[in-house]
Amino acid sequence: MDFGIPSFMDPSSESRTSREVVTFLGLAFSLLVLYSGQRCLFGTRGTKLPLPPGPSLLPSSIPDRDIWRTFQQWHARYGPIISLKVGALTVIILGDRQTAHALLDKRGSIYSDRPKSIFVDKYFDRGFFPVLAPANDYWRLHRRLHTALLTTKASETYRDIQELESKQLLFEMLSSHDYKRTFHRFAASAMFTLVYGKGLSTDDLGMNEIRDMDEMVELGVQAISIGSFLVDAFPILDRLPRFFSGWKIAAERAHCNTKSAFTRCINIGFYEDGWNWSQEVSQRKEAQRLTPDQLAYNQGELYVAGSHSARMVMDVFVLTSILQPAAVKKVQQELDRVIGSERLPLFEDMESLPYMNAFILEILRWRQTTPLAVPHAAAKDDEYMGYGIPAGSIVIPNQWQMNMDTEIFDDPDSFNPDRWIENPELPLSVFGFGRRACPGQQIAHSTLFIAISRLLWAFNITSPDKDLKKQLADHSGRLGAVYVPSKINTSFEI
Ligand code: HEM
Repeated sequence: MDFGIPSFMDPSSESRTSREVVTFLGLAFSLLVLYSGQRCLFGTRGTKLPLPPGPSLLPSSIPDRDIWRTFQQWHARYGPIISLKVGALTVIILGDRQTAHALLDKRGSIYSDRPKSIFVDKYFDRGFFPVLAPANDYWRLHRRLHTALLTTKASETYRDIQELESKQLLFEMLSSHDYKRTFHRFAASAMFTLVYGKGLSTDDLGMNEIRDMDEMVELGVQAISIGSFLVDAFPILDRLPRFFSGWKIAAERAHCNTKSAFTRCINIGFYEDGWNWSQEVSQRKEAQRLTPDQLAYNQGELYVAGSHSARMVMDVFVLTSILQPAAVKKVQQELDRVIGSERLPLFEDMESLPYMNAFILEILRWRQTTPLAVPHAAAKDDEYMGYGIPAGSIVIPNQWQMNMDTEIFDDPDSFNPDRWIENPELPLSVFGFGRRACPGQQIAHSTLFIAISRLLWAFNITSPDKDLKKQLADHSGRLGAVYVPSKINTSFEI
């Protein structure tokens, strides 16, 4: 489908898009500075109760990186539920599982909404992505279609594909000089096969469709970050002439390219001979209520969510493996003992490899890729512990803080897979909460198990870089919602 919009996927486009978004965030930040310290001037609309405690924002109080660590300090001072006033917006941050459970799980009828956002709703998404949709019938229909494909039982039937792709992953790692790209191909191909019925080679990563979707993810991560909501705190930003609003143009282009890419990909799925999710979903009676574009988003979202989340965790796995040689040694000893050198680990070995499973859980906990999950919103005024939570508040589960909670995890900063063996009931806060919780958890666990167990069975991962610890504080986006370490020098030796 041609939207008549020139492609911005030229070699300089990625940095241009990032620059435009950063410029926008910079402007928004300046306004934040102007409006900071005004918290007492804003009441809680619709409820007379006080907001949860929180800081009066000062220019220096919000860093543009690793914002969850700042939230962690605020939780230490103000408690597990804190609030921020940012212009017209109220942001509520939840810092322990008990509070997240009480609000997001138990009051799901109130807290399953997503924040309204000019950036997202008017420019970037325009109401198509189910993950960004409010808790309405449109979202419920998508969610039903998704969960039918992602049940525990259904997820087990996808293991042959994950198995095959992980063999290809090992083969490619023998000659790869770019583990990030190889992981990307692995995760993208496994999901593309499920969603559209076709595997991807490394060359296919250059396909326009894949590049457009990757580009969208980069901007999408900004879209679900706190920064993008600042335009809603200061709606006047939306009135700036387009000339000053590169971010609008970037968001609109990403929307058009994504819609076009999703449409082309679902058509690939429809015409592939083999079974795939696109064909399966399109035959469901309920799916007839969606337009062709909406159906394309239903499937495109699964491809994007499934492929990018897995490759990000695998990037963290590489960094962790280099920084935690003692834990890796224990994993490899277990693999030697249970599997030996004559065959690869299989899904059937999962239960016999408790330390391997614990190692993966600890990677997910220790440096999670989604420290702030995806923001929820309050659909109506609510009260909790004597505090008012006004309708429309942005509600952020601070998963980072929950996974670093000293009440639950002994010495949470240390990487210790054994904690999961000693107490298998420990809670992991990685996949969000309530009715919005990630429906792809089973697939995520099995993808990570088969890839990581086979990589550690086959390779020793080392790095000549001496100071990798600083990577732990590095991530890909300003005010971003995700943590991804940058690429490091590594060798995968057999
Ligand atoms: C390690 C891998 C993954 C992580 C860390 C992850 C994390 C998350 C998080 C934090 C959310 C937001 C939950 C909330 O709003 O409370 C989410 C939502 C979602 N995830 Fe995942 N995810 C992963 C893998 C997957 C996979 C494999 C799929 C599908 C194949 C998937 C599909 C989705 C979808 C469709 C949503 C939107 C749910 C909604 O808004 O109703 N995810 N995920």
